[in-house]
Amino acid sequence: MTSSSTTLSLVDTDPAELAVDAIVIGVHSQTTGSDDVVPAGNGSYTATLLLASGAESIAAAFDGKLTETLALLGATGSPGEVIKLATLGTVTAPLVAAVGLGPEPTGAAPAPETLRRAAGAAVRALAGAERVALTLPLPDDADAPAALRAVAEGALLGGYRFAGYKTRPQPTRRPPVAEVAVHVPDAGDPTAQAEVARARAVAAAVRLTRDWVNMAPNELRPPDFADAVASAAREAGLGVEVLDEAALAAGGYGGIVAVGQGSEAPPRLVKLSYTPEGGGSGRTVALVGKGITFDTGGITIKPAQGMWEMKSDMGGAAAVGAAMLAVAALKPAVTVHAYLPMAENMPSGTAYRPGDVITMFNGKRVEVLNTDAEGRMVLGDAMARACADGCDYLLETSTLTGGQVVALGKRVAGVMGTPELCERVRVAGDTVGEPAWPMPMPEDVRKGMDSDVADISQVNAGMDRAGHMIQGAVFLREFVTDEVAWAHIDIAGPSYHVGEPFGYWTKGGTGVPVRMLLELVEDIAANG
Ligand code: BES
Ligand code: MN
Ligand code: ZN
Repeated sequence: MTSSSTTLSLVDTDPAELAVDAIVIGVHSQTTGSDDVVPAGNGSYTATLLLASGAESIAAAFDGKLTETLALLGATGSPGEVIKLATLGTVTAPLVAAVGLGPEPTGAAPAPETLRRAAGAAVRALAGAERVALTLPLPDDADAPAALRAVAEGALLGGYRFAGYKTRPQPTRRPPVAEVAVHVPDAGDPTAQAEVARARAVAAAVRLTRDWVNMAPNELRPPDFADAVASAAREAGLGVEVLDEAALAAGGYGGIVAVGQGSEAPPRLVKLSYTPEGGGSGRTVALVGKGITFDTGGITIKPAQGMWEMKSDMGGAAAVGAAMLAVAALKPAVTVHAYLPMAENMPSGTAYRPGDVITMFNGKRVEVLNTDAEGRMVLGDAMARACADGCDYLLETSTLTGGQVVALGKRVAGVMGTPELCERVRVAGDTVGEPAWPMPMPEDVRKGMDSDVADISQVNAGMDRAGHMIQGAVFLREFVTDEVAWAHIDIAGPSYHVGEPFGYWTKGGTGVPVRMLLELVEDIAANG
């Protein structure tokens, strides 16, 4: 039940002569006129279209009429817009697709994220075509690798489609583009080839994350999810350890056991390990991801409206597991361990309940007040285990709180933890187009979580929901040892996309924050 694949290659032949089904060029919007505010209906702005670099030979074949024709067809160059034009023999490809890149940046090539989104939008719009070539504006300076990486990632991710569960083929549904060729000055250039190889590994991880997230929750319960992750990891040559329900109980993983005990499908903790050849930098990174395969809320049950979306509550574990496969392929010079606690949060006669006191893996006792705050229960154990195993950096990601969506929306993740690492997370997210924003952890929030009977309440003791994204982080801090630099990345919003597709985001799982985690692992491998 996985997606079809898209292949990617480089070409350096004249785009006008490429034997493909469609050629994608870039167009910029260009506004000219006065900057003054003018009365409504009396504006002096006129929007004109500007061909982006890369489109030269196509433009030449159209005898200077390409811009004019595209404008006639309604092209404005705004981001995400794709206008198709039959070439009628002017160039080899039967179709030109002009993708909007927004205003031309002064003196520079478009930002990588602009290119990534444009490539994704173009490839999505060309579904039904077998072979597509992209000739987008790529810089020829030190920014060239990042731009090529962005185009390649955007194309491969825009070409994603979840296979789904339909029993009949859908005649009106056009298949995603099968082959993408990216036009570059020199297709044999080793740097360019390396970027494409990297993009393939990264996109494969993002696509696998999307598949896992998009799967129906009855098809991916904790034992199924653990098997899927473990077999993919073994194939990639990673170390694999799977703790089943008996091992979790014996090992003192009170949080994972408590959340998992309400379901007929028992919980799991999957550990994956990557060790670089020659020992690498000597540093160790721990990645931890929330793997709730379905979150009903448990006894503190959620409302019916939109509950199906909680099939995506394993998005953190999916991203961490898939990122490890890319780590195995990219071979950074740093040791990486991943911890994926998996459970199904169900209400039943065996479910954990409000009022329960749970002894966690690090010995701390937690008073449960709301069984729907299950993520922090499984994560607390997994993070404490990661610290017990030894790590220098701990990056944890989870669909932890609706509060993240309220505070930062559907696109920007919340990040809390050691300030320096939070700042690195922010920068890495910005670099790859998976933005994250640091949030504070004020002391009064921890005070509000003092429990009358245990070491800490799972949520604010008065059930005050104010700042509950922050409460999640303050709780998780209890399970990290002092010397470890850590960051909690709340992806409740950005991990799942409900609206219409845009850029390289398709409906459903987005694969956030796979690319950010890989950027951070590579950054730590290179810079400590
Ligand atoms: N999985 C949810 C958080 C969530 C909400 C993810 C919306 C994606 C979209 C989490 O387990 C949860 O239920 N959180 C509670 C926390 C509360 C009980 C402190 C919430 O958001 O209300
Ligand atoms: Mn919940
Ligand atoms: Zn949850």
